Amino acid sequence: MNTNVAAAQWEEARNLRLAARLASAVPQVANAGLAREGVLRRAVGLTLEASGCSAPMGSRCRVEVAGGRWVDAEVVGFAGDRTFLMPTAHLEGLLPNARVVPNRMQGEVAVGEGLLGRVIDSDGVPLDGRGPIRAEGHQGLAGVSINPLMREPITRSLDVGVRAINALLPIGRGQRVGLFAGSGVGKSTLLGMMTRYTAADVIVVGLIGERGREVRDFVDATLGEEGLRRAVVVAAPADRPPLARLHGALRATAIAEYYRDQGLHVLLLMDSLTRYAQAQREIGLSVGEPPTTRGYPPSVFAKLPALVERAGNGADGRGSITAFYTVLTEGDDQQEPIADAARAILDGHIVLSRRIADSGQYPAIDVEVSVSRVMQDITDAPWRERIRKLRRLMSAYSAQRDLIAIGAYQRGSDPTVDEALARWPAIMDFLGQDVAEAANVEQSKAELMRLLDDGAGIPL
Ligand SMILES: Nc1ncnc2c1ncn2[C@@H]1O[C@H](COP(=O)(O)OP(=O)(O)OP(=O)(O)O)[C@@H](O)[C@H]1O
Ligand SMILES: [Mg+2]
Repeated sequence: MNTNVAAAQWEEARNLRLAARLASAVPQVANAGLAREGVLRRAVGLTLEASGCSAPMGSRCRVEVAGGRWVDAEVVGFAGDRTFLMPTAHLEGLLPNARVVPNRMQGEVAVGEGLLGRVIDSDGVPLDGRGPIRAEGHQGLAGVSINPLMREPITRSLDVGVRAINALLPIGRGQRVGLFAGSGVGKSTLLGMMTRYTAADVIVVGLIGERGREVRDFVDATLGEEGLRRAVVVAAPADRPPLARLHGALRATAIAEYYRDQGLHVLLLMDSLTRYAQAQREIGLSVGEPPTTRGYPPSVFAKLPALVERAGNGADGRGSITAFYTVLTEGDDQQEPIADAARAILDGHIVLSRRIADSGQYPAIDVEVSVSRVMQDITDAPWRERIRKLRRLMSAYSAQRDLIAIGAYQRGSDPTVDEALARWPAIMDFLGQDVAEAANVEQSKAELMRLLDDGAGIPL
């Protein structure tokens, strides 16, 4: 009996000690973001409101739906006791008072060599039916920012295989470029050409918010078996929820960062940046942000540079991410807010023009209004002189286009226009390029020299 009492006392004392230790451990755990389960109170549109739920912003939760299944959602905001969540997959069978269970802290991206040649969705799930992908490590979805002073400067040109770009708008390794155009002017086709011809070790393609049909087209027709071998495709087409589209872009960028950190030269193609911004707009508006700039809430303009700044050269001696982002300029409006913001944060923009496309000239690059901001660093003086001369000829021609079209231009009234007129067929030939044809930097540059250095016309 006595021994029993002693044992019970000892047990009690041990339990007290344990309880005290646990109690002292609790605040630390709470600081680390340990989360409490909540209950679904409201579901309007794509926004879910839970109460009693304690999970940090950006963390994932699981929401129970009819049939004992679960859907993933992410914490996108809160107000008082209410937590706002958005689903990352299709919502079906939501029930009032359903359980909302916090999951992992942050979204993570599985990375590894096994990704090469694969097509995945915004959650990393393979879409190509070729079995699971072995992860060798994980990257944060949001990436790690690089100290801008540690970044290697842009000093080397990159061959993108397109003559007009290589010769007139040379792209540097680690540059971030926007491809601006209205719908159907040839953005995707031009990206496709660059996918095939660019001198890069790995190509990461983010197909964000575009048509689902295009994913198949891009993989089968544009990349083909050969191209796919050195590519990773992340697809989050238009029918996916906004959060999935957002994550698609982040995942593609994280994968590019993984290869860059291994010292490789990566080409990142994002089609499109506008759809990424629109996904963020849907999220921002549905959690109650004010629409400040033409329907876009402020968070959009914070998310754009956060995404774009992740591309670029790595720290000293590391690899690079050269990135192309397509930007939709609705109604060919170059002042549209997303286009405007993108132009400010990118290191160059290539504008495709509907007028040129309508005339049957492809790629429909409008050289006069396109800019590469690193040109000075990667070209020599004679090259730059030729570029300037060609631009001068083209803008002189443009200024007189209407008169020329009706035959009212008088030869001899302006020597620059005269020369532009004389050279016009050759210039158009030079700018045009078939999708199946590649032109490297040296060839493109040599052709530019040949085009202008025949001794005719006004001097440079
Ligand atoms: N280099 C090219 N050569 C011939 N035709 C082209 C070329 N580029 C584009 N086109 C024509 O323009 C059409 C639209 O091209 P594409 O799909 O690349 O445009 P987009 O700007 O991506 O369109 P969207 O805004 O709808 O995504 C193509 O179907 C094709 O007919
Ligand atoms: Mg397209």
